[in-house]
Amino acid sequence: MSIVVLSVVYALLLLVPNALAYNILVVFSHPGKSHVAVFSPLVKELDRLGHNITLITYVPVADNTTKNTRDIIVGEPMLEVVDLQNALSSMRLRSIEGPFMISFFAHESCVNGLSSPAFQSFLTENNEFDVILFEFFNTNCYMGLANKFKAPFIGLSSCSFMPWHANWLGAPENPAFNQDLFSGFSRPMSFFDRVENTLLRVYTTAMYNIGMSKPGNQYSEKYIGEPAADPHDASLLLVNTHHTLHGARLLTPSIIEVGGIHLHNKQPKKLPEALESWINNSDAGVIYFSLGSMIKGVTFPAARREAFVGAFARLRQRVLWKWENDTMPDKPDNVMIYKWMPQFDILCNPKVKVFISHGGLLGTTEAIQCGVPVIVLPQFGDQLNNAKALENVGGGVVLYLQEVTEEKVYNALQTVLSAEYQLNAKALSSRFKDRPLPAMDTAVYWIEHVARHKGADHMRSPAINLPFYQYFLIDVIAFLALVSLISSYLFFRISKVVLRSVLTRNKTKEKSS
Ligand SMILES: *[C@@H]1O[C@H](CO)[C@@H](O)[C@H](O)[C@H]1NC(C)=O
Ligand SMILES: *[C@@H]1O[C@H](CO)[C@@H](O)[C@H](O)[C@H]1NC(C)=O
Ligand SMILES: *[C@@H]1O[C@H](CO)[C@@H](O)[C@H](O)[C@H]1NC(C)=O
Ligand SMILES: *[C@@H]1O[C@H](CO)[C@@H](O)[C@H](O)[C@H]1NC(C)=O
Repeated sequence: MSIVVLSVVYALLLLVPNALAYNILVVFSHPGKSHVAVFSPLVKELDRLGHNITLITYVPVADNTTKNTRDIIVGEPMLEVVDLQNALSSMRLRSIEGPFMISFFAHESCVNGLSSPAFQSFLTENNEFDVILFEFFNTNCYMGLANKFKAPFIGLSSCSFMPWHANWLGAPENPAFNQDLFSGFSRPMSFFDRVENTLLRVYTTAMYNIGMSKPGNQYSEKYIGEPAADPHDASLLLVNTHHTLHGARLLTPSIIEVGGIHLHNKQPKKLPEALESWINNSDAGVIYFSLGSMIKGVTFPAARREAFVGAFARLRQRVLWKWENDTMPDKPDNVMIYKWMPQFDILCNPKVKVFISHGGLLGTTEAIQCGVPVIVLPQFGDQLNNAKALENVGGGVVLYLQEVTEEKVYNALQTVLSAEYQLNAKALSSRFKDRPLPAMDTAVYWIEHVARHKGADHMRSPAINLPFYQYFLIDVIAFLALVSLISSYLFFRISKVVLRSVLTRNKTKEKSS
């Protein structure tokens, strides 16, 4: 009887809409698929929990697994292709190019997306939102929406910290110990690393202010009719990092690390039969080589490709190489080429011992999750920084494509195939997964927290409101310096008077005696 009643009550409860369902607006301003891939599982989880989601995006997210998600598609996803033939410039040059590249992307995404009929028609609707999630990457041009809807907003970063993020949330961004995202410095930094890191920080933040934030605000006024909201007023920042990989940082309570969020509940699936038996039959293990979807193997400079082929031919291990061509000249017998492979399922196969990657955060966290050491060939953007971070925590080694030779590839492979690196990667994996709450649940909890309390002023760092001279105690130091100057002067004057009177008295005594 009671079971029947309970079942009926439960069934009724399922029919009642979730009392705590919020209207959430999500804005993915960057047309890159990899950026959306980090947070689309979060959108789907919020949807599953009964929230009503409106999504402004270039990359579709709503599908037959979502119920309350509406995509507003503002343009075509960006064709992300990097030609390695052109990517042999120095890493230092690429740190300089990075901010230029993303300010160009920002301009494209703002003008195309904001002027699109889909976006303009969305603006004429009569909507209300409890909270807005903005991708915090290279532009603020969509952030007029926070002013239009008068809603609290949260930043999402699919990369590690952009150089301007920490200051927005009032966390210290000290180039003495925080490596700039566009740099590739080890921890700790040498003196000249710190010089360069400091200059890079000044350069990257100036590039943001001049090349991205200022025009972004103009676009927001032009196309949304509202100035862009001040990112210092963000309630939270959810960032795709974890200190087990990127190292400890000084964070405010409003900065939440959710690194690995895209792996939520992800279990390796069974591999295609042929691939699995080929992997199974490799007694010494398998090396998985993929530079992601943006970098096509066929654009590999011939001499570098031959270096890899030569090193692979000397191995007992087998190699799975993502290569977008039906054939590869002088391919060794232990190498198998595929145009596409289920990356996560391969990495988590116990036979897979090494991942050769470009250091994108999606692939890097997948390798950490599966406990596989990585040889990173960083190319651009945050990859250099991720590569160094991984090397610092013992999860792999960095190899620069410009310097690749057969010997270097072979030695790097021997290093990461060693028992030490295999164990390091397993230990890193277990630290990465050891958290009080999974990344997804953490993100959902804090988003609902902000919606529930209509903002998170209680988590706002007091540093945000301080002018420059107060933050660096310049007024206090000036005041104390003045006080000590005046007191030293007074002390000097008084001592002089006292000494003189003592001396005079002594002289008088001498004379009288
Ligand atoms: C969901 O959000 C949209 C705004 O895009 C709104 O028009 C709609 O009424 C909302 N649905 C519910 C059930 O609140
Ligand atoms: C959703 O659509 C995909 C194809 O786009 C299909 O393979 C899958 O079975 C569908 N899932 C459900 C639950 O309908
Ligand atoms: C590969 O090996 C695993 C573990 O030994 C086994 O479960 C699986 O059936 C094998 N697959 C093939 C295709 O041989
Ligand atoms: C790809 O394969 C075609 C033949 O199938 C060949 O003509 C072409 O040169 C190959 N490209 C590269 C870069 O290997």
